[in-house]
Amino acid sequence: MANIKLFLVPVCIWTILFNTSNATRSRPPPKFPAILVFGDSTVDSGNNNDIDTLFKANFRPYGKSYPGHTPTGRFSNGRLIPDFLASALNIKKAVPPFLKPNFSDHELVTGVSFASSGSGYDDETNAVFQVISFPKQIDMFRNYTARLKSLVGERKAKRIIGGALVIISTGTNDISTFKMDTNDTRYQDFLLNKVQSFTKQLYDLGCRSMIVAGLPPIGCLPIQMTNKQQPPSRRRCLHNQNLYSKAYNQKLVNTLLQVQTKLSGSKIVYADIYRPLIHMIHHPRKYGFVETNKGCCGTGFVETGPLCNPTTPTCRKPSRFLFWDAVHPSQSTYWYLSKYLKKTALSKFL
Ligand SMILES: *[C@@H]1O[C@H](CO)[C@@H](O)[C@H](O)[C@H]1NC(C)=O
Ligand SMILES: *[C@@H]1O[C@H](CO)[C@@H](O)[C@H](O)[C@H]1NC(C)=O
Ligand SMILES: *[C@@H]1O[C@H](CO)[C@@H](O)[C@H](O)[C@H]1NC(C)=O
Repeated sequence: MANIKLFLVPVCIWTILFNTSNATRSRPPPKFPAILVFGDSTVDSGNNNDIDTLFKANFRPYGKSYPGHTPTGRFSNGRLIPDFLASALNIKKAVPPFLKPNFSDHELVTGVSFASSGSGYDDETNAVFQVISFPKQIDMFRNYTARLKSLVGERKAKRIIGGALVIISTGTNDISTFKMDTNDTRYQDFLLNKVQSFTKQLYDLGCRSMIVAGLPPIGCLPIQMTNKQQPPSRRRCLHNQNLYSKAYNQKLVNTLLQVQTKLSGSKIVYADIYRPLIHMIHHPRKYGFVETNKGCCGTGFVETGPLCNPTTPTCRKPSRFLFWDAVHPSQSTYWYLSKYLKKTALSKFL
């Protein structure tokens, strides 16, 4: 059954994204009191600003399209998926990082991000990059819970966490080119074991509604194409790496169904990032994109993090680029992805 549904999705992407008929519009969004976010740079709103790592984006030109052109630590020119979803759900306009010094009570009650750029499910990934591992992100969540309880009381805190939308988005940093090239599929199972363990830990801490993102088409990330030394005029997504992402995603769908069955009262939903991104890459003009195989920052082939800095020139119109830097999507891409997730993953909570 799950397979049939997946098969139908690509055909419908266009309709899902751009159908604005009343039938779709009149459905009210599901209600969540708060949003809690775990993962890597796809969802880190600035936790790395306050730790000792090279994986930072709290300087220009990051944040070029963010309100006030502010570099916040988000690895894009603007807002990320959790920000767009929090807006769509009428929770708030942006999800602050947990490590932000001194955030308000309102921010605490409506949720934060524990994510850390450069991190992954695998502890080795985090050790290499010196960022906040998933177990540490869960520790931070324990702290958060303690603070929330002391602010609103035990019962209300439980209700907020039980009702919160949890977003988990990570995995890409774990998977090295070597693993993809040698088709090391046992490593996928290792990661999926981590997915089971972390979702269970969050469940035990009171979370009930979770969205877990799959992998993007890794072979289409500009940096991956560059690593294969493709000449600029003939850059193409790397087929085998994309197959690897797809195989992982297929297994993740099954894993999440199993986890949901085991954890009674939970709703654990797969977020498909792969298909909408591939659709954008194959039909860029439908999305207003003119460039899909290099980033807007610098040459677009290699720049990310410290290489995309205040001295690096950028393209004039980031909204025309699918990628902001050589690894991370632009705000426009995140906006389209959010729109897609709203109509697919989020609608499963209705
Ligand atoms: C919190 O931030 C405000 C300004 O945003 C500042 O005036 C205040 O001193 C800060 N409080 C602490 C404890 O850092
Ligand atoms: C978590 O809380 C403990 C005790 O309240 C504190 O020592 C620790 O620094 C906190 N950690 C974070 C990441 O906030
Ligand atoms: C990778 O391995 C899996 C299982 O071992 C196999 O089904 C798949 O076809 C392989 N993919 C490639 C690109 O060789």
